[in-house]
Amino acid sequence: MINKKVEQLINKQINAETYSAYLYWSMSAALEKMNLPGFANWMRVQAQEEMTHAMKFYVHIIERGGTVKLTAIDAPPTEWSGVKAVFEAGLKHEQLVTSLINGLVDLAMQEKDHAANMFLQWFVNEQIEEEKNAMDILGQLEIVGNTAGGLYLLDKEMAARVFTPPATGQQA
Ligand code: FEO
Repeated sequence: MINKKVEQLINKQINAETYSAYLYWSMSAALEKMNLPGFANWMRVQAQEEMTHAMKFYVHIIERGGTVKLTAIDAPPTEWSGVKAVFEAGLKHEQLVTSLINGLVDLAMQEKDHAANMFLQWFVNEQIEEEKNAMDILGQLEIVGNTAGGLYLLDKEMAARVFTPPATGQQA
């Protein structure tokens, strides 16, 4: 049986991951408006990934006999000043999510919920990648600056990202 305090915080995390999907979906729409369909594609794939994160938390509560409580999702911002601002906000958001995951691990350890602690380790690793992705893209944007040719090429590269659905029997 899942620890009740952990269950409560995981329910909050389902909301946070779903908000992440909403935020990235909104960023994707903004990038379309900036005529950067490749970057928009990258963000759309990111939004899909976030939904698999939310589902992973959902399944953990269900599998351990807990109660899922879904709550209202905040509206994300809809406008950014440019592509760099989008990814800066993305990195900041991932740093926040990392702190939420760390808080969950702290609570699971404090409450001696070993199953939750083990489950959460996947997210500890995932957050390294999430922050790295945003930092890498910001680094590339730094290199090309505001040159139209550079942005065009980078956009083509970003168009290549595809969403890989989780294998059967796995949530992410
Ligand atoms: Fe679900 Fe981007 O962390």
